[in-house]
Amino acid sequence: MLRPTGYIDGGIAPLEEIRVPVLDRGFLYGDSVYEVFRTYAGIPFLFAEHHARLQNSARLCRMQITQSEEEIMDAIRKTVAASGAAYKAAGDDVYVRYQITRGEGPVDLFPHPDLRTRLIIIVKQIPQWPPEFYEHGVTLAIPTVRRNAVGALDPNIKGGNYLNNILGLAEARALGADDCLLLDADGMVTECSNSNIWFVLNGKLATPAAGNLSGITRRALVGELARAGRSEVERPLRADELPSATECFITSATREVMPVARLRLQDGATLDFPPGGGEHTRLARQLYSDMLARFTREHSGEAWF
Ligand SMILES: Cc1ncc(COP(=O)(O)O)c(C=O)c1O
Repeated sequence: MLRPTGYIDGGIAPLEEIRVPVLDRGFLYGDSVYEVFRTYAGIPFLFAEHHARLQNSARLCRMQITQSEEEIMDAIRKTVAASGAAYKAAGDDVYVRYQITRGEGPVDLFPHPDLRTRLIIIVKQIPQWPPEFYEHGVTLAIPTVRRNAVGALDPNIKGGNYLNNILGLAEARALGADDCLLLDADGMVTECSNSNIWFVLNGKLATPAAGNLSGITRRALVGELARAGRSEVERPLRADELPSATECFITSATREVMPVARLRLQDGATLDFPPGGGEHTRLARQLYSDMLARFTREHSGEAWF
C-alpha cells in the first residue's frame, strides 16, 4: 500500500509528519522552485526534462542549488522506496513533487549567496480527477486577474509562489468554473492555473508558447503531433480569436490531455465545445496515450518499483 511520504533535511517520514522551519525562505517569501513528475508502470516519466526545467527555474531566480544532482536523485528514489509503492503487486504509480527552497536565514529579503538550499520531497498517490472531466470536460472562465508579465515574475519560474494562479483560480471558481484561463495584460492567451491551453481555430490546433510555463506535457504532445505530420500548433493567441474556437483542451503531467467543455469569456458569453472532446482533442488524447504505451514498453528496464 502506497503511503504518502516526505523528505526533508536528510530524513524520510510519513508526509503528515514533515515540518518546514518558519525561517525557511520558501515559507517566508515563496523563495523556492519545484517540479512535479509521475511514474507510469513504476518508471519515472520525463524526469530529465523536469530536472532541466527545475534548473532553469533556479537560474531565472538566481538560485544556486547546493545539493548535487546525485543527492537529489538519491533522496527522491529513497523517498519513493519508503512510500511502499508497488507497481507489479498493487498497480501503484506515484506523484513526486520535489522542491528546492533558498534555505533558512535571517528575516531579510536579500538572498545571501552563503545560504544553503533545502530539498523537500512529497511522494503520494497520483491525483484522481473526476471521471466527468474526461467524459464531458472541465469548464474554464477568464478572470479579470492577469498572468504575471514575463518581465515581472516570469511564468517560466516554476516557483513556490503561485498567488497569481491562485487568484485567477479563485475568481474562476466564484464564476462557477472549474479553472481559470489567464490572459496577459495585452489580452494574449497564456495558460490555466496549472496546465497549458490548446484550441482548435480554423480547423487547426493552436497553443500559445509564450507568456506561460513551458509545459513538458505540451512539448511532448507537440512532438507527437509533429510525428503525425501536424507541426503548425505553437503560435501567439489573442483572446479576441477565441469566439471562433471549435475545440479546447488542457495539458499537464497529472491531467495528461483533458477536454474543456465550456469556456466563459471575459464579457460573460460562453463557448461550448464537444462533450468529451471533438476530433482534434480525441486525436491528441490518442497520440498521448500511444506515446505512453510506447514509453512503458521501451523503458521497462528502468522501473523504480
Ligand atoms: C502554471 C502551469 N502551467 C502549465 C503546467 C503544465 O506543465 P507540465 O505539462 O510540465 O505539467 C503547469 C503544471 O505544472 C503549471 O503549473
